Amino acid sequence: MKILFARGFERKFGEQVQYLNQTILTNKAHMSWVTKTLNSTLGRKLLMALTGLFLILFLVVHLAGNLQLLLPDGGEAFNKYAATMASNPFIKVVSIGNFAFILIHVIYSIILSRHNKKSRPVEYAVSKASTNSVWASRNMGILGTVILIFLLVHLKGFYYEVKFGSTPMVSYEGVEFKDVYAIVATAYSNILYVAFYVICMGFLSFHLSHGFASAFQTLGLNHKKYTPAIQFVGRLFSIVVPALFALIPVYMYFTIQS
Ligand code: HEM
Repeated sequence: MKILFARGFERKFGEQVQYLNQTILTNKAHMSWVTKTLNSTLGRKLLMALTGLFLILFLVVHLAGNLQLLLPDGGEAFNKYAATMASNPFIKVVSIGNFAFILIHVIYSIILSRHNKKSRPVEYAVSKASTNSVWASRNMGILGTVILIFLLVHLKGFYYEVKFGSTPMVSYEGVEFKDVYAIVATAYSNILYVAFYVICMGFLSFHLSHGFASAFQTLGLNHKKYTPAIQFVGRLFSIVVPALFALIPVYMYFTIQS
């Protein structure tokens, strides 16, 4: 009875079943290509490079917004900017992507460094690292860990406070805004907080000094003509961006005091 039913089913739906089987096989092949790429060292490095470049772009936009904290307007421009960002649906999507990319960048850095340790469990008897690579490139893990700690403190102090805390309100031309400036100013009236930011920006600088050019190299954008220019821009970026980020708490600390 069962056999008869199976034969009838096959006759009726044979073509559809075959099509489904083929689709599953194609999807499996496709999936295995994706998982293979993500599990290969090159694939992991590519993910690190792409997420790293996105985070670099985020830093530029974030810095441009935060520099408005330096305007002598009691935080009006910054608060209006923060409100525009919070209500923009495109920015909301970018923000989710940003957190996802931070996670991927961190997780893959751990996977890669574990893999590297496994492939070379015993350290070289004579380490040539100091001669063929700079300090930053050998300490990306330590630098990244400090930046992660910075991020957790930063997100708790600002992001969490603004989104879920009781942010004071301020009114401009009769319209109410969250006073994000007040949250930042309160934090930067504490010298320990300011010192923490300045020190962490030093770590960010070293991390970027290697990460910037290294990302381009991983993406294969290595060229006799362009590599020196990329390295130069990377060095400049790794100094200017963290220095400007560090300037904000220092400037606010002294202007709040006076
Ligand atoms: C003086 C330096 C900085 C200031 C004043 C500052 C200020 C802020 C503020 C106020 C927020 C909350 C924004 C809101 O929800 O309205 C925020 C979010 C954030 N900050 Fe910063 N920030 C600084 C440096 C940095 C640095 C150096 C990094 C990264 C290394 C960073 C990463 C982030 C991230 C990932 C978020 C969450 C953004 C999102 O919603 O996607 N910030 N920052």
